[in-house]
Amino acid sequence: MKKIIQNHVWSISSFIENKNYNFDKKKILIDLPEKFIDEAIYSITNWNNYLPTPLIKLNKLSRELNIKEIFYKDEDKRFNLKSFKALGGAFAVNKIKNKKGNVIIATATAGNHGRSVAWGAKRLGLKCKIFISEFVSEARAVAMRNLESEVIRVKGNYEDSLKECIKQSTKNNWEIVQDVSWEGYEETPKFIMAGYTVMIKEIIDQIKDDKITHVFLQAGVGGMAASIIAGFAKFSKNIPKFIIVEPEKADCVLKSIKNEKPTSVKISEETIMGGMSCGDVSTVAWKILKTSTNNCLTITDDAISTVVAMLAKAKLSNKKIIGGECAVPGIIALISLFKNKDYINKLDLNSDSKILLFGCEGLTDKKMYKKLLDDGLKKI
Ligand SMILES: Cc1ncc(COP(=O)(O)O)c(C=O)c1O
Repeated sequence: MKKIIQNHVWSISSFIENKNYNFDKKKILIDLPEKFIDEAIYSITNWNNYLPTPLIKLNKLSRELNIKEIFYKDEDKRFNLKSFKALGGAFAVNKIKNKKGNVIIATATAGNHGRSVAWGAKRLGLKCKIFISEFVSEARAVAMRNLESEVIRVKGNYEDSLKECIKQSTKNNWEIVQDVSWEGYEETPKFIMAGYTVMIKEIIDQIKDDKITHVFLQAGVGGMAASIIAGFAKFSKNIPKFIIVEPEKADCVLKSIKNEKPTSVKISEETIMGGMSCGDVSTVAWKILKTSTNNCLTITDDAISTVVAMLAKAKLSNKKIIGGECAVPGIIALISLFKNKDYINKLDLNSDSKILLFGCEGLTDKKMYKKLLDDGLKKI
């Protein structure tokens, strides 16, 4: 049988170490307050139909790479929204309704965050306005309209849709529920990030006393990555290495870590990894990431469809897994690192390593998934 690693698609475009690494649990849990985490976990785990998502062992991949364990958190099973984003936006809408009553909610989104906000608003009977760029698929727009939200398309990219959302919300007094923070807008993004920490609480319960050595974290604005780090700070005695994975075309966290300050990236071409196509790191996320990230790396789109197909055909695990375009970057990064001894040594990846990967989204866009799967099946 052809080995997985022999496929030509694996490559890392950039790889850096964080010179300012200095993990400080106390500080992290001030930047994302423990009180918010406790509240989010209590609230979300009491929602109807709440169930922890599976933690699947990629045993075929770990055998090939000679790694002790590779765990994959399968967010395809997150409520029926099929991405971890279900945990954040909907929780923040809850908090806002409790605080402010019957307001109109607004957000800008690449798709999954908006679906979470729309779902949260619908459950609470709130009106919801969702701003999307011209690059968000119609299937994703339909999913949000089906949750009774008004979807407003904006010319340009994600940043343009966010600008328009802020402009119209300010004018009309709508409540913005955004998963990115900026100076003066930080509380709601903190609620959203607190919602994401449910994943890490579940994982710590699922792995029991297994000690994770490396965590690969996909980043768009960095909110998910920072919340997982905060989750480790809160729930785990053991602190693994945190490796941020971004698309080569949207590497705002890598650039910020490299320049030791938040650095904008102009997105000149959209990656397939739509949810991760962000040009600016969130200010709340940055406070955590700047000293808690060990390494940053970037990947191209080349291996996305290959890994989508490998998961679907149970090439990496005993179970078939449905993973969308933003679910696979961690797997791509891990396999690609094994093509370069220098990276392996720098990260201390070896036969004792226990890796944690996040399958951030599943079947969130049927048309896109089918296209990636058909393409990937020709390559494996
Ligand atoms: C669908 C989706 N959106 C967004 C992100 C990135 O999250 P954040 O923007 O909080 O960094 C991911 C992470 O992989 C994702 O899968």
